[in-house]
Amino acid sequence: MDRPSITLDPRVVVRNYLEAGDERALADDVLDGLTRPFKELPPKHFYDAVGADLFDRICEQPEYYPTRTERAILEARAADIVELTGVTELVELGSGTAAKTRILLQAMADAGTLERYVPFDVTEGMVRDVAEQLTEEHPGLVVHGIVGDFERHLHHVPEPEGPRIVAFLGGTIGNFTPGSRRSYLRRLGRLLRPQDHLLLGTDLVKDPAVIEAAYDDAAGITAAFNRNVLTVVNRELDANFEPEAFEHVAFFDREREWIEMRLRASRKMTVHVGALGLDVDFAPREELRTEISAKFTPERLREDLAAAGLELAELLTDPEDRFALSLSRPQEAAGRE
Ligand code: SAH
Ligand code: AVI
Repeated sequence: MDRPSITLDPRVVVRNYLEAGDERALADDVLDGLTRPFKELPPKHFYDAVGADLFDRICEQPEYYPTRTERAILEARAADIVELTGVTELVELGSGTAAKTRILLQAMADAGTLERYVPFDVTEGMVRDVAEQLTEEHPGLVVHGIVGDFERHLHHVPEPEGPRIVAFLGGTIGNFTPGSRRSYLRRLGRLLRPQDHLLLGTDLVKDPAVIEAAYDDAAGITAAFNRNVLTVVNRELDANFEPEAFEHVAFFDREREWIEMRLRASRKMTVHVGALGLDVDFAPREELRTEISAKFTPERLREDLAAAGLELAELLTDPEDRFALSLSRPQEAAGRE
């Protein structure tokens, strides 16, 4: 059921679908992930207010190329994207601070098509701030914000009103495991009618040294972001992780073509998770996987899209082929032309 939303501006609605059950979602993930022989936690728990702020700082690090590369592609091609799609509403999953999205919204405003923006993120403060800022920047824009888990609450995306783009930027699709990636793309495809498009950001396969540096910046911001998930578990589930006793590990798996972030226990320890009455033993140097971030080739991207019932319409890359923005649409729509 929708929770009441309190807003002063009638152009802004923000609905929060995260409820008491969501501590349970973290509890389930911790119980599931920390009792496995190979320990693992899903990356969505990185993003409390501190984690969201650390992610923003990662984007400013000289080693972290995806954000500035994707921004450059958008700056160069936003007007083309708007012209090609005739988009009047933008739905954005994992919208964060919507920093790059502003480029697209501005191009829509310039073309006179901007009507509605639907930011969707697990971090409430960001959705509210973005809603407020963007309605100030664009008089007449309607914002329908969704605070929720984009894996569990996708059905709360409102019905489309005009030609729609569903944007999933930053390479966040790479944070899904390969199996769930295709089924998730398929679910995204269900938000599209024949005239709508998916705008997907994907990081591309390249020199592993460049990728590894991006996930292990010299200033230690990514390391702090990685350890922050332990602070989240401490606070939400009354656990006693010592974040500093875990080393940040980032390595590119050349066979699977993804980078993994892990946290390596510096010594033998037992961590108590109070809310679950659970003791978790770590052997010296034992690792906990906290994220994978898949890197794509254009062929693999095409295959993943096709397996999800989508057909690539445009592949936009930077001059060094570091990152790709793709526009795709439902296969039947492509077939009708
Ligand atoms: N799109 C932005 C932010 C990417 S960071 C960019 O390209 O820079 C990933 C974003 O997804 C964060 O804002 C995080 O809060 C959000 N996020 C991660 N997992 C999520 C989930 N399961 N449901 C909703 N939002 C999620
Ligand atoms: C959000 N996501 C695409 C980022 C990535 O690059 O996989 C998260 C991140 N992890 C470490 N640095 C950035």
